[in-house]
Amino acid sequence: MPRYTADSRDRVRDAVDMLALVSEHTELRRAGASEYVGRCPFHDERTPSFGVNPVEKVYYCFGCQASGDVFRFVMETEGLDFTAALQTLADRFGIELQTEQEDPQAASRRQRRERLQALLGRAATYYARYLWEAREAEAAREYLLARGLREEMLREFRVGYAPSAWDRILTASRRAGYSDEELLAVGLVQRSQNRPGQVYDRFRERIMFPSTDARGNVIGFGARAMRENQRPKYLNTADGELYHKRRVLFGLDRARAAAARAGSVILVEGYTDVLALHQAELQNAVGIMGTALTEEQIAELERVAKVLVLCLDADSAGQEAMLRAAQLTDKRNLELRVVPLPSGDDPAELIERAGAEALRERVAASVPFVAFHVERVFEGNDTRSAEGRDRAFQQLLPALKNLRRGLFGDELLRGIAGRLELSEAQLKSLIEGAARQNGRGGGATTTASAPELPIDQAGRAERAFLALCVALPEAGARTLFEIDPEQLITSQAMRRAARHLAGRTGSPLADLPPDDEPLARTVADLVARAGRAGRVSEDQLVHARLVLERARLERAIRRARAEGASGIGELAREREAVLQKIGQVVANLERAG
Ligand code: GTP
Ligand code: MN
Repeated sequence: MPRYTADSRDRVRDAVDMLALVSEHTELRRAGASEYVGRCPFHDERTPSFGVNPVEKVYYCFGCQASGDVFRFVMETEGLDFTAALQTLADRFGIELQTEQEDPQAASRRQRRERLQALLGRAATYYARYLWEAREAEAAREYLLARGLREEMLREFRVGYAPSAWDRILTASRRAGYSDEELLAVGLVQRSQNRPGQVYDRFRERIMFPSTDARGNVIGFGARAMRENQRPKYLNTADGELYHKRRVLFGLDRARAAAARAGSVILVEGYTDVLALHQAELQNAVGIMGTALTEEQIAELERVAKVLVLCLDADSAGQEAMLRAAQLTDKRNLELRVVPLPSGDDPAELIERAGAEALRERVAASVPFVAFHVERVFEGNDTRSAEGRDRAFQQLLPALKNLRRGLFGDELLRGIAGRLELSEAQLKSLIEGAARQNGRGGGATTTASAPELPIDQAGRAERAFLALCVALPEAGARTLFEIDPEQLITSQAMRRAARHLAGRTGSPLADLPPDDEPLARTVADLVARAGRAGRVSEDQLVHARLVLERARLERAIRRARAEGASGIGELAREREAVLQKIGQVVANLERAG
């Protein structure tokens, strides 16, 4: 980012027409010698409480206290940082910005960058003209229009067509004074395999979607195949000096202001989806172009709006992308919502089939990510069986751990508890137990596969017990036969391990199901612990089991108390008996040394 001189900043401020600037966002009327008022562009209101002083070039809202100067106004309304706001205003009011004592190196870097941007801009203009004028592009024009995309929208996004010839861009760019090196640097040409030293146009016979930076400068292209059997379907600019695919969000420059105003940004998968949404007057839409959402993109989106609305294909790749988005927004101040799309439709197809209004309705009916995710998980697991409920719980855990409390969260938890056949309190304590384990293995936010299994204090006692069952295979087999894991074991991981071990304490690793990595890890861990334990006695196993019995009774007593149920006395007596047995075993163990 260049640093501009204070003097250029002042010249921009002087040049700005404050009334013209603000009037684009709200209607102003005169209210005094040097004051205008209107409805505040930063919050919803009926009666005007937003004041503008066009002489001082400042604004102030008596309703929401928004205030600032021309730069702040552009930053807020268009979601730009200061430098970008300054550049935008400079462009618009015709001021040339001077950079602070630019060292020669920085100056040459900037000049290079500007040259490359200009080169790509020329190419985009060339492709766009070719789309509308060339005979060869007729099929592409027809295809785009037949998909319901209007000409004005295609022009606005500078969609183009790359000719089939091998050297159009090459020749035109050379003629304009660009070197082959520069053409290679921006990815417009590539080296010939057969003829060393030769280069030729990279994009041919493709519909060209220009990708831009925040200010709308072209930095690369997404090029869609037009011919049958032309692979890949989309050919993108390779990463280079200007284009970094991890950062690109298609259409962000055009979506920014609308997103800042709406407070939300809609994320779609494809180039055509972005165009379709803009055409449906959802101008806050940007494309992630495929499905690999990155940290960098999320950071960029977070600066634009606080609500991210995912409007991705209902297919599995789209689902994957949503889970990825959930992981990435996990620790951020970004609210994630999902637009449920009919399966098999992407947004562009939905508009084509059912019209813009249908899509707008869907977007308006977006649901919080977690609610969407919960539905998916329950669709994917049969909760009539304990195993199914277990799996569902495992898959829900990462999302539930981050669930914000409140009416919505409580309601959701109640529903989930019911479907998992748990009391709300049980579900909460399971989640809390897992949350305490968060640090372990760093895998706690893995959403797609089963998460690192949670283990809390109770879980540790349970793990010790199971390790002893493995260390003493015969006594262990007997014990596991006698107990009811549902009752005695609370940790999901250990409960699953106990079920697996029953009847298999002699060869715990032998028939692990191949597709259950978390279970395999837990059992392997138990075997390792059993190995480390060395010689153990049956009394140790008895003791470990009694510890779990005591914990079970304590849970039952707490629950009975909380629910005001009777029978606490009976439970307390049982606990006494267990405590006594524990005392005896401990005495035995001490005697045995
Ligand atoms: P149309 O079929 O023209 O409507 O495109 P689409 O955007 O619906 O394509 P699709 O749903 O198949 O893919 C969604 C997005 O994934 C595309 O817009 C591309 O950004 C990206 N994509 C699809 N196919 C490829 C590919 O072969 N290579 C790369 N790099 N990206 C692809
Ligand atoms: Mn698609």
